[in-house]
Amino acid sequence: MNDVYLNGEFLAADQAKVSVFDRGFLLGDGVYEVIPVYAGKCFQLSGHLIRLQASLDGVRMQNPHSQDEWKTLIEQLIERNGGGDQSVYLQVTRGVAPRDHVFPKNVTPTAFVMSSPLAPVPESYKTQGAAAIILADIRWQHCNIKAITLLPNSLLKQQALEAGALEALLIRDGYLTEGAASNAYVVIDGTIYTAPKDEKVLPGITREVVIEIAQKNNMPLLEQAVTEQQLKHADEIWISSSTKEVVPITTLDNKPVGKGIPGAIWQKMDALYQQYKQKGAT
Ligand SMILES: Cc1ncc(COP(=O)(O)O)c(C=O)c1O
Repeated sequence: MNDVYLNGEFLAADQAKVSVFDRGFLLGDGVYEVIPVYAGKCFQLSGHLIRLQASLDGVRMQNPHSQDEWKTLIEQLIERNGGGDQSVYLQVTRGVAPRDHVFPKNVTPTAFVMSSPLAPVPESYKTQGAAAIILADIRWQHCNIKAITLLPNSLLKQQALEAGALEALLIRDGYLTEGAASNAYVVIDGTIYTAPKDEKVLPGITREVVIEIAQKNNMPLLEQAVTEQQLKHADEIWISSSTKEVVPITTLDNKPVGKGIPGAIWQKMDALYQQYKQKGAT
């Protein structure tokens, strides 16, 4: 069994216990990160730790560790769990206190980190692409905060799965925001569109990498939201996340996207993304 980190200690996962009064358990009062690890090294760790701080600030919660402390303890956990390719999950909750909506005073945040083997991205995503469905974005108004309160995302993802799809692409006020667990991109006439960074989308770390790659390689990319109609007539659609990388969506609501196969612009982005990963930028 893998080790986990909990409040200053490394423990076997089955030895790690959290109080039933933890506000994460009772109120979903916490934030999290998921960090991919390749060959024992975190990918884009500083970006994840900066976003963690932004999420904590967004919910007015204390950061229990400095960036250096997080880095050290995450690296220690990766090593204890055998290195290689892992997915690190990190969660901070406001801590343990009598149940009350109002923030408790002088409470110590609960800090938890676990890691599991990183599942390889299925080959079929690259050869055939994946399916998505369009659903209404039923989430809250602060989707830029990576909150553990994921019930709407979970309901949306489950609906997608039951429709035979990998992801739900979400529409708010007529515009595509993102996926239930991913950022979304639409290619129209050679330009890549992705929703701008505001409170309607999570500022994805993979999204940052995609934007950097596009800029360095003269691939036109606009941080501009597209309408549902534009989405339905896109030449290509992609989604991105830390554990799935950049996945082409080739079927939308049971209809082919473009030619119904992974598009040429995705092919180029994926090749460049794989190179970027190889370089192991942290
Ligand atoms: C709602 C949502 N948007 C976007 C992303 C992608 O973020 P990242 O690239 O940092 O994994 C995720 C990742 O889980 C997510 O849950």
